[in-house]
Amino acid sequence: MNIENKVALITGGASGLGLATARNLHSKGAKLVLMDLNEDNLNSAKEELKDNVIGIVTNVADEESVKKAIQSAVDEFGSIHILVNCAGIGSASKTVGRDGAHPLEIFKIVIDVNLVGTFNTLRLAAEVMGKNEPENDNECGVIINTASVAAFDGQIGQAAYSASKGGVTAMTLPIARDLARMGIRINTIAPGIFDTPLMAMASDEVRKPLIEMTQFPKRLGDPDEFALLTAQIIENPFLNGETIRLDGGKRKNLLINKFTLSVKNFKVVQQKEGI
Ligand SMILES: NC(=O)c1ccc[n+]([C@@H]2O[C@H](COP(=O)([O-])OP(=O)(O)OC[C@H]3O[C@@H](n4cnc5c(N)ncnc54)[C@H](O)[C@@H]3O)[C@@H](O)[C@H]2O)c1
Repeated sequence: MNIENKVALITGGASGLGLATARNLHSKGAKLVLMDLNEDNLNSAKEELKDNVIGIVTNVADEESVKKAIQSAVDEFGSIHILVNCAGIGSASKTVGRDGAHPLEIFKIVIDVNLVGTFNTLRLAAEVMGKNEPENDNECGVIINTASVAAFDGQIGQAAYSASKGGVTAMTLPIARDLARMGIRINTIAPGIFDTPLMAMASDEVRKPLIEMTQFPKRLGDPDEFALLTAQIIENPFLNGETIRLDGGKRKNLLINKFTLSVKNFKVVQQKEGI
């Protein structure tokens, strides 16, 4: 889909990955609807971007709030062509920690914002996209969700977060199947660690091993690199139903694991052979 003159909804668009996406799509001529809980940050984003942008205080997990925001977007710009779901929250709580079992309320809140919020926004936006005049290939809309590498490789304390992001990843293909007849594509980005206010909350103790696991380049991701991928997903008509890791090859260091394995095997051989 051509980005110029299209209407793009960005949840979590007032900060971090969402704001970087907003800047990039705006520079390519999109009209923006930023949906975020944080009113101050929404106002700063609007001041920075100036033309063709509205900001709406929205809670993605709340049905009425998203319905109102989508209606405001249609009233202002007439339609919706693109949705980028970036709104999300993190959490860190062990299944059973020093203070007892994981608070159930925290687990539910994380699922509610990251998973239910993503679905809530995309189902309502897709309904509007379906009414667009089809473009090339009969395309009417593009949806991008944000999961995390924690969907595949969650760390200690990330049960709730990983479950929410695993859900976002798992629902991508069935939604692509559901929306195909409406000419709407959907893809998910699974970022590694990016330099945003969300990550700034993490201690060095958390950040250091995560950077260590990144193969190359060994640094935090730049939000502009996330924005580059969102634009490519929008512009590439054959990309559908996929979750794309954007993580500098972040994996556990297999060399160490193999080495440990061979030492263990050697010990077993030693015992067997009586060496
Ligand atoms: N930064 C990273 O390293 C990283 C890694 C993997 C995945 N992610 C995911 O990327 C997305 C964006 O994260 P970020 O790093 O830009 O964080 P961020 O905190 O900078 O931005 C998130 C935005 O979402 C908004 N938000 C939170 N709850 C909301 C709600 N209920 N309704 C509407 N808006 C709400 C916040 O106000 C904030 O502006 C999140 O889904 C996060 O889980 C981030």
